[in-house]
Amino acid sequence: MGREFATALARWCQIQELEAQPELVAVCSGHETSLAWFRENLPNLRLATTRYEDLLADSGIDAIYCSVPHHLHEAMYVAVIESGKHLLGEKPFGIDLEANRRILETSSRHPKVVVRCVSQFPFFPGAQRICRQARTEGFGQILEVEAGLLHSSDLNPGKPINWKRIQAFNGAYGCMGDLGLHVLHLPLRLGWYPRNVRAFLSDIVHERPDAVGGMAPCDTWDNAVLFCEVHANGSQFPMILKTQRIAPGEGNTWYLSIKGTRSSIRFSTKFPKTLETLVYDSNGPQAWQQEDLGSQSVYKTITGGIFEVGFADAFQQMVAAFCHQVVAGNQAQLPFGCATLEETRMHHEILTAALASHARSQVVPLPPA
Ligand SMILES: NC(=O)c1ccc[n+]([C@@H]2O[C@H](COP(=O)([O-])OP(=O)(O)OC[C@H]3O[C@@H](n4cnc5c(N)ncnc54)[C@H](O)[C@@H]3O)[C@@H](O)[C@H]2O)c1
Repeated sequence: MGREFATALARWCQIQELEAQPELVAVCSGHETSLAWFRENLPNLRLATTRYEDLLADSGIDAIYCSVPHHLHEAMYVAVIESGKHLLGEKPFGIDLEANRRILETSSRHPKVVVRCVSQFPFFPGAQRICRQARTEGFGQILEVEAGLLHSSDLNPGKPINWKRIQAFNGAYGCMGDLGLHVLHLPLRLGWYPRNVRAFLSDIVHERPDAVGGMAPCDTWDNAVLFCEVHANGSQFPMILKTQRIAPGEGNTWYLSIKGTRSSIRFSTKFPKTLETLVYDSNGPQAWQQEDLGSQSVYKTITGGIFEVGFADAFQQMVAAFCHQVVAGNQAQLPFGCATLEETRMHHEILTAALASHARSQVVPLPPA
């Protein structure tokens, strides 16, 4: 993800009419070998180091994008905030609820430091349209919300183990910690924090090949389905959330679907150009309408409006939102901002309740938002 971030900045001239002009001046990686790519591709790089403390001590650095394994989030995010540098941190923003609390507590002591969490999928034009409709005309009484992020890469039991498949580094949430913020960000932004959750978690692959010809335990949850009860917008409705690493037929599919009595809407990155809507008409047919989307973005780009968008575009838009926040200040209301600390906290509450729900085979209530 560090390279993804560097690439988003390298083509910043793509973004139009945004005061913020970020420049990547320094990088840190725990592995010396991975610094080579940055040195080769970023001729203006001032510093490439294996010690993140070097970045914190550098007065020429205003903000840090931090993308490291989950067990390192707490220590590094706290250190970045305490150094007074703005932080764009990767999800899940702490390996567990306790780690998240400590990061949030540190942030509350540094109110001028902008701290936000990565979540790029809501920057797809289709997701933005859903958000706009939810905030303007709505859907009538909401009947059901479904959201998910599905992969199939772990379907192969021969895929070697890595830190994301080991609890000590990835955390007890497993696939939920990896994918859950992506799924929950927009529902939480729209005010759909649930009252309770019933979760079913699946541990499908128990061991994977290691680097030395043996097998290593794979002790993380592979798939999760959460059934949540939401009371919002004058409606009570079920919200079904899926985070799955073993989902046949899915590459990296993020989707959100909302059904309402007056209108329904759905978008999936499987068909990034397509937005589907259905407006209920008592005399009309039950027919979904498909609309071709272009590259309508939150921040204006040089790409013509009729052209398509992808992962890298959504990610760059999200980075633009972070840079805009840094320039405009912590309290500024943006057209659409990165995930907030409160949103990361609510998502940790949900995932923690989901673990308890699965362990007890029970519905688990959530603390008030
Ligand atoms: N936004 C997204 O779509 C997305 C996608 C994948 C991963 N992520 C998140 O990004 C983060 C990293 O995931 P990844 O896939 O890039 O992992 P990765 O294993 O590819 O990269 C992790 C990086 O952390 C560095 N690192 C490890 N220990 C370090 C230390 N002590 N000091 C400095 N650097 C150290 C490693 O050198 C490596 O460069 C995680 O929080 C993950 O959830 C986000």
